[in-house]
Amino acid sequence: MIYRALLLLGLSGSNVFAHLNSMESQTVLMDLSSAQAVSGRILEQDTVLNLAVTQLTSAQINKLSDYNHTQNKCAGFEALPPDEARNPAEVLSQMRKSQEAMVTLSPLDFRTQVTYDAKLAGLVAQTNPQTLKDTVTWLSSYHNRYHKSKTQNKHVEDLKVKLSEWLKGAPWPYTIEMIAHTSTSQNTLKLTIPGTVRPNEIIILGGHLDSINKLAAIPFIGKDRAPGADDNASGSSNLIEALKLLKQIPEFERTVEFYWYAGEEAGLLGSGEVAKASKSKNRNVIGVLQLDMTLFPGDGEQVISLVDDFTSPWLNSFVTDLNDVYIKARLVHNKCGYACSDHASWNKQGYHAVMPSESDIKTMNPNIHSENDVINLQSNFNHSNSYTKIALLFAAILGNSTIKAP
Ligand code: BES
Ligand code: ZN
Repeated sequence: MIYRALLLLGLSGSNVFAHLNSMESQTVLMDLSSAQAVSGRILEQDTVLNLAVTQLTSAQINKLSDYNHTQNKCAGFEALPPDEARNPAEVLSQMRKSQEAMVTLSPLDFRTQVTYDAKLAGLVAQTNPQTLKDTVTWLSSYHNRYHKSKTQNKHVEDLKVKLSEWLKGAPWPYTIEMIAHTSTSQNTLKLTIPGTVRPNEIIILGGHLDSINKLAAIPFIGKDRAPGADDNASGSSNLIEALKLLKQIPEFERTVEFYWYAGEEAGLLGSGEVAKASKSKNRNVIGVLQLDMTLFPGDGEQVISLVDDFTSPWLNSFVTDLNDVYIKARLVHNKCGYACSDHASWNKQGYHAVMPSESDIKTMNPNIHSENDVINLQSNFNHSNSYTKIALLFAAILGNSTIKAP
């Protein structure tokens, strides 16, 4: 209540923009209705996509965070790099082209690409909610994983060391790299398993490793503890757990890449740079899986939500297929309404991306972005374990087949 009053007085707000004074502004990509609600200066808009490139003062950013919480949404905007901020029409036309290219076929045209394989089912059966819990416990024990903290790369370096321990004895060669960024001093961690037959065809799995406490900037009261157990130690850990099991697959015909992105909470910073670099190198990325928030079973333990906007109908259908054959959860569909996670960075560059998430937006974890995003009685590791299965199947099937978008 006190927090809310202070927010309304404009004394605080997102620590993402704590460095801005109320006169400074930032050019962002956001949903059009929120831009209108906070009276942001709209530079360019698309009423079909419900998107706007908007100039926001820090006071409007504070107002936005407050407005969106009344709509059951998070802050909801993507910071644009300077070259894109100068060309808002181009940003929207790129988003439009990506969307149009992906929705020309009906999802039904893609069905039955996944067939049952007993060995793969055996791997799926080995996914382990208890080791998943250990990994989430470890990642959420850092004070925060905020991209501007003094120790912003400590957990990234620690993960690098742990990955090489977990991957001892792997049958395939792999590399682990720290990717430095221009928009943040936090690094993205990348693990590559080189493809043996078609190395130029790339399968990507990712999730953001950073966390944030949106109330940290409130003078005297705000704390910067941000355990981020659900958002997003959970998705980051699903990727780790899947990777451990992939050691049982002798080789991958295609290259498989894992990313633990930097600075997502400050506007998709790490993934924005990674996806843009992929596009400018013309890399043949076949598909991208994004895992962000998998621990809170808002619609029930066996219910998985597929985010339908800024994602690929083909990959949504592929995940539906692999669920039908191997997981058998109930799937529901959901929209963020804006570029709410790293899948949107890939979608923006024209790549096929998919994001299975814990629940509908309306029933998602209310404690994210605060010190209360911890493992608690509502955390459900059986629920989250389904997302380890999705990651495992995504890498195992797409990494060893010729399946691609029609
Ligand atoms: N985990 C959230 C996104 C999310 C929201 C996933 C709802 C699933 C359901 C993510 O970390 C986040 O907080 N995103 C920001 C936007 C980003 C561009 C700064 C948000 O929603 O405010
Ligand atoms: Zn978040």
